[in-house]
Amino acid sequence: MPAVAARAIDLQKRYGAGDSEVRALDGVSLDIAAREFTAIMGPSGSGKSTLMHCLAALDTPTSGDVRIGDVTLSGLRDKALTTLRREEVGFVFQAFNLVPTLTARENILLPLSLAGRKPDREWFDTVVDTVGLRDRLTHRPSQMSGGQQQRVACARALVSKPSIVFADEPTGNLDSTSGAEVLGFLRRSVDEFDQTIVMVTHDPVAASYCDRVVFLADGRIVDEIRSPDREQILEHMTALQAAAVRGQV
Ligand SMILES: Nc1ncnc2c1ncn2[C@@H]1O[C@H](COP(=O)(O)OP(=O)(O)OP(=O)(O)O)[C@@H](O)[C@H]1O
Ligand SMILES: [Mg+2]
Repeated sequence: MPAVAARAIDLQKRYGAGDSEVRALDGVSLDIAAREFTAIMGPSGSGKSTLMHCLAALDTPTSGDVRIGDVTLSGLRDKALTTLRREEVGFVFQAFNLVPTLTARENILLPLSLAGRKPDREWFDTVVDTVGLRDRLTHRPSQMSGGQQQRVACARALVSKPSIVFADEPTGNLDSTSGAEVLGFLRRSVDEFDQTIVMVTHDPVAASYCDRVVFLADGRIVDEIRSPDREQILEHMTALQAAAVRGQV
């Protein structure tokens, strides 16, 4: 795997035109290192979800380009894009997005079933044991806690061994204990399985699980810290907030 798992090259994403134009992304260039856990933070509306969706090939930028591994997305036709999304990218949403009528096992295996691929039995077992869901495999989402459901969603994102996993506020709907379970699992999948993860979060504690935090404001990258602790993250969030109030960001 290349050292850079994904790359954003001068991404612009605009909505509307003229006076009502919104620049959701305004020239974002970013390398996501392989085998790192990266957090994306920033105020509401700063472009975090838009950036993740562009990086994950779920949305297309107005200009600029995205590379996943060695592949440049703008050069791909629909079919190749679908395959790349299916094979190389995992996505975890804030609202778990599980299928209510399927069991945990069926939900985890759904992307593989849809792709007509057979699960790697050993890897499935490893993922299930790592998320701690062995005794919940026959349960439906309504029979599980929020944390358990989000761990099912994480397992579903990882079971196809994607080269990169994106998580948009994966702990946003969870209490702190369930959030810690999910974050612990994401951290372990980077440390033990060499997974690459990009996560949007508003929570400095969640971001402190990461190797790197990238800060967005008004569609631009304005700051970044490595190996952050909670206090450092809070300080940067406060400084950015103050700069925004003064109109400097
Ligand atoms: N489909 C759309 N049409 C018009 N404007 C949009 C659309 N999607 C997003 N935007 C605008 O683009 C900007 C960035 O949105 P985005 O969802 O990326 O923000 P965010 O940082 O994820 O915010 P939050 O923390 O609230 O989730 C916002 O101003 C938003 O209103
Ligand atoms: Mg968002």
